[in-house]
Amino acid sequence: MQNSHINGLSGLAYLPDHFDRDAQETLLEEIRKIVAEAPLFQPAMPKTGKPFSVRMSNCGPLGWVADVNGYRYQPNHPETGKPWPAIPARLQALWSEIAPDAPPPEACLINYYSTDAKLGLHQDRDEDMFDAPVVSVSLGDTATFRVGGLNRKDPTKSFRLKSGDVVVLGGDARLAHHGVDRILKGTSTLLKSGGRINLTLRRVTAP
Ligand code: SIN
Ligand code: FE2
Repeated sequence: MQNSHINGLSGLAYLPDHFDRDAQETLLEEIRKIVAEAPLFQPAMPKTGKPFSVRMSNCGPLGWVADVNGYRYQPNHPETGKPWPAIPARLQALWSEIAPDAPPPEACLINYYSTDAKLGLHQDRDEDMFDAPVVSVSLGDTATFRVGGLNRKDPTKSFRLKSGDVVVLGGDARLAHHGVDRILKGTSTLLKSGGRINLTLRRVTAP
């Protein structure tokens, strides 16, 4: 594991090539099944109603949603009303490996980025507790990922996240600002139609 410091915060880890191609393909197959059951939806900014360019789904007992009523976690898909599918075992295993002392993850947000999608700088702070890390897995085209500090205006650092890479925002870096500036088209053959999938595992409630 490579630990990186950002703005003096420890707890940011970058694990390049954590999943090899075989593991990425198996994971992708599992995600496809989840999305067939819990289709991608288009979230919107609560204040403005402006749609995100990223489409989303979830697995796990809770899923993150965004609409005019706010940002929140809920047990059901916003369009189908059905419970989210379960978190695949290999993602649960990843969590146990990275955060052996944390309670199990409750939500896995699935973000799909077409090649023109991006995600503005933000903090993941809709959870009830921040003791557990946020664990992220990248699949498909490479993304330019930006990480900053606890204050929005802190200096930022940019990483290229490739298919199979894992990033951990834990410890002091749990509430670091982060976002995706752009997707580098044609950098991976994993997704047949291009684009990128990012999975983020989170613990939402205090055990
Ligand atoms: C997120 O912050 O929800 C996703 C980060 C990423 O796509 O790498
Ligand atoms: Fe995030």
